[in-house]
Amino acid sequence: MKKGKKLYEGKAKILYASPEKNLAIQHFKDDATAFNNQKKAIIEGKGILNNRISEHIFSNLNQIGIKNHLIKRINMREQLVKIVEIIPIEFVIRNIATGSLTKRLGIEEGTVLDYPLIEYCLKNDDLGDPLVSREHILSFNWMNVMELELINEQCKRINDFLQGMFRGVGIKLVDFKIEFGRSSQDNNIILADEISPDTCRLWDSTTEKKLDKDIFRKDLGNLLEGYQEVARRLNILHEQSNIRPIKFPKPKAVKIKKK
Ligand code: TMP
Ligand code: ASP
Repeated sequence: MKKGKKLYEGKAKILYASPEKNLAIQHFKDDATAFNNQKKAIIEGKGILNNRISEHIFSNLNQIGIKNHLIKRINMREQLVKIVEIIPIEFVIRNIATGSLTKRLGIEEGTVLDYPLIEYCLKNDDLGDPLVSREHILSFNWMNVMELELINEQCKRINDFLQGMFRGVGIKLVDFKIEFGRSSQDNNIILADEISPDTCRLWDSTTEKKLDKDIFRKDLGNLLEGYQEVARRLNILHEQSNIRPIKFPKPKAVKIKKK
């Protein structure tokens, strides 16, 4: 499919115009960033894995009635998606305390939360995506009360579904971030952006080994190996790709070439 002009470039993805009305091409880059772009690297193959994992999750969510922007994956790095007007709030759903929650409130790392906790962050890199309250959202008209209720419900359903999906393959869904947008085509709010190991915290259920972007944030090892393990467990690592092959499940026998 022929790409049109660049509509938007973010830290991990680029959105291009597509030949089809109201649709865009979402391209997954290999760029990894953390701490609001202060730490950066290019990790060859990351975009391919995130494209595939996000496609898998969004198409599964679609099957349980969570409307989202995905039309179809086009190639290894790109998906055809509905154009939406992104709501400027990042929705963070937490099942286990870690990351900024532990730092901000002194909650002990690893505390299993009694109920999933939904946090709202304003999507503004210059301000460092600050935490905002429900009252801020309503007061500044980022959403109306009906929209906020609808999204809260969706966040809970998405969390329930993803927790079950990951638990089934021996992974704890610790927390994740999602974004929603207004779709003129659907006349509704739909899930957008991506759900991948870049935007989730995923721990091995037994060892609590990190399989997500914390590997990069905290220099815990080979990021690609973690993402490949997630894809392998979800049974979606079949395709030919130019990612360096890592054999599973015998990690001891594997030698990863350092560049
Ligand atoms: P936090 O503990 O750093 O606030 O992160 C919570 C979750 O949100 C975690 O799964 C990582 C994800 N996240 C993003 O996807 N993008 C971001 O910019 C940030 C800060 C977190
Ligand atoms: N996504 C943010 C960044 O690119 C923060 C993070 O994921 O840690 O800096």
